[in-house]
Amino acid sequence: MALKDQHIVVVGGSSGIGFAVAAAAAAEGARVTIASSSAAKVDAATARLGNAGAGFTVDVTDKADVERAFSSLDPFDHLVFTAGDWGGPRRGALKDLDLDTAPGLFAVRFWGAMAVVKAALPKIAPEGSITLTNGMIAHRPRPGSAVSSAMAGAVEHLARGLAVELGPIRVNCVCPGLIRTEVWNSIPAESREDQLKALTKNQAIPRVGEAEEAAQAYLFLMNCGYATGQVLKVDGGFGVIP
Ligand SMILES: NC(=O)c1ccc[n+]([C@@H]2O[C@H](COP(=O)([O-])OP(=O)(O)OC[C@H]3O[C@@H](n4cnc5c(N)ncnc54)[C@H](OP(=O)(O)O)[C@@H]3O)[C@@H](O)[C@H]2O)c1
Repeated sequence: MALKDQHIVVVGGSSGIGFAVAAAAAAEGARVTIASSSAAKVDAATARLGNAGAGFTVDVTDKADVERAFSSLDPFDHLVFTAGDWGGPRRGALKDLDLDTAPGLFAVRFWGAMAVVKAALPKIAPEGSITLTNGMIAHRPRPGSAVSSAMAGAVEHLARGLAVELGPIRVNCVCPGLIRTEVWNSIPAESREDQLKALTKNQAIPRVGEAEEAAQAYLFLMNCGYATGQVLKVDGGFGVIP
């Protein structure tokens, strides 16, 4: 159990994939600290983690708030970044693209990750790691998803660039396919399973992934002391189907 007694900070850990990472690391004996912007969500998730968990609030789009949050944190071993927002227009044809609001799509997942890594860096152990998160939209764009695809690709290349710059601290990225999290609760319950099935039916593994399955990729990248600059897809084979 390589994570036993390690301290792991999960930004975005109050729900979904991030919470599953925190819970899996705690099950391996790690001390976990989760963070996100809603105090109510952080409190509820921390309570679910029990004695292994602590939490703090931070809005990753607010540089001063990120600096405040990390300046008061104890040193730690591994940083995981899974924060993602779901508001605003995420799809649309180029002809309809609003160039004033489109950069907002990068605010949490890309610039938020950059701000968190910068503020967290002095606290991360030299043999520690940073794991970012993008998504398969980077590799399988659809018409109308150019900005989302570019943003997800940018996160991947941020991990590669930082791996070169920050070594021996390792920097990697997990690239999830369709994973069952709170996000999909926006689909009405009566049609949710049918829709998730339809979205994944052509994959090599024709089902939605579970957050616990995605979490294993983060655990691997934290544990494997020789892996850096890597992007690990956990996508049910979505990326290899023709
Ligand atoms: N689920 C999927 O199918 C899937 C597929 C591909 C990629 N991904 C990627 O995986 C990541 C996690 O997805 P998920 O499904 O686990 O989503 P989720 O359940 O909505 O979790 C997102 C987390 O980010 C936090 N967050 C949002 N805005 C924030 C902000 N400004 N500052 C700090 N924290 C913030 C949320 O908490 P607060 O609301 O409290 O801030 C929450 O803890 C995202 O980047 C997503 O794009 C997911």
